[in-house]
Amino acid sequence: MSSGRLTFPDGFMWGTATSAYQVEGAWNEDGKGESIWDRFAHTPGRIMDGSTGDVSCDHYHRWREDVALMKDLGLKAYRFSISWPRVWPAGRGRVNQKGLDFYSRLVDGLLEAGIEPFATLYHWDLPQILQDKGGWAERSTAEAFVDYTDVVSRRLGDRVKHWITHNEPFATAVLGHRVGMHAPGLSDLLTALKVSHNLLLSHGWAVPVLRRNSSGSEVGITLILFPLVPGSSNTTVPPVFRRLDGSFNRWFLDPLYGRRYPADIIAEYIEAGYLPADNVDFVKSGDFEAIASHTDFLGINYYSPVILRSEVTPENENEPMTLLYHGPGYEYTDIGMMVYPDGLRHLLNRLYFEYQIPKIYITENGASYSDGPDMKGRVRDQKRVRYLRDHLAAAHRALQSGVPLAGYFVWSLMDNFEWSFGYTQRFGIVWVDYENQKRILKDSALWYKQVIAENGFAVPARSR
Ligand code: FCB
Repeated sequence: MSSGRLTFPDGFMWGTATSAYQVEGAWNEDGKGESIWDRFAHTPGRIMDGSTGDVSCDHYHRWREDVALMKDLGLKAYRFSISWPRVWPAGRGRVNQKGLDFYSRLVDGLLEAGIEPFATLYHWDLPQILQDKGGWAERSTAEAFVDYTDVVSRRLGDRVKHWITHNEPFATAVLGHRVGMHAPGLSDLLTALKVSHNLLLSHGWAVPVLRRNSSGSEVGITLILFPLVPGSSNTTVPPVFRRLDGSFNRWFLDPLYGRRYPADIIAEYIEAGYLPADNVDFVKSGDFEAIASHTDFLGINYYSPVILRSEVTPENENEPMTLLYHGPGYEYTDIGMMVYPDGLRHLLNRLYFEYQIPKIYITENGASYSDGPDMKGRVRDQKRVRYLRDHLAAAHRALQSGVPLAGYFVWSLMDNFEWSFGYTQRFGIVWVDYENQKRILKDSALWYKQVIAENGFAVPARSR
């Protein structure tokens, strides 16, 4: 088979993504309030390398330079998030105009550079003061989110025409409240379930507010989704598959698309004693209608699949199922995620066929590789180039099967603070030297620039 070219549809949104806490720094400047991530990172032992996002990429001060980089790359779109405590230091009450001004200038700068702003309202940095009142486990936080959405969209809604309410409710609920590796660092399943509900509810309530304040805009939510891949044909695999798919994927997708929470998962939680048998009391009348409020697109973040294999050993006789992340012959990025481009194609196809989603953006996809500048200052991150190329080729195959994919955002524009991993992981297509804040376009950035310019790329036979 010879090599060929993949061309994307006209108007395809080529973008990159970041989030406020991960890049902005300026954690306590110009009236910004404390977020749960400020508190978490300042707590010894929470972040692998003991670092914080206090300064990070200093994007708060260097955003002009960063927008110039984006313009040079020819980006069509930039996905960033708004820091709630920068805009509303006390969660509710007095608005911090300086915080809002920052985002207003950023949006103007993007538009002047011909770059479409995609604003995420919540990428995990809840005002600490709201956490002190119970955080996302309380419905009052969902109500506060609607007020915050109102304030932000009144100010930016004339210029921002793409809104993402939440980034990965799964991560906030499960990593933040069940596993404890993200802020606020709790470990309780019932709390995680309440949190997921209040996040989804706040999304549903915010949708009409965004439509009112930002006419003609597209509104959606971003989910992280995990394609499940069978690693063995053993008959014990399907029920476990269904269960994991239910708690990772369907728990979020089903209510958003009008199907309420998956009955099999509710039954399982009741059986395990996590939920009371008679009623799921945090769900109130009207909630499901609100959560399923019509959206224009779904954003998906894809990094790696869950591969399941049945394996019986003397130690696990009664529980023979293992999650298989490490299989021979597969590549892993530096953070330990399996490189599996086909997972993206399967995921896109499934979303379209099973939920009939009218429009999909890949709002994050990317790889952590630590390659740094060589003697000449060049960053030869060929593994990242291959990663991006192979995932885009997989996305292109989904497009060819009819999936309405409208854009792709590389995670990330630049190296940044990777949550509990601190600065040990580099996801950027732009290198950041944290000593002097110098930015260097990696080879992957130069490759992406060409892809954008040509609206496609040449592929060797094996990627097609
Ligand atoms: C996603 C997060 C993003 C970044 C990437 C690597 O789950 O949304 O902020 O941490 O993972």
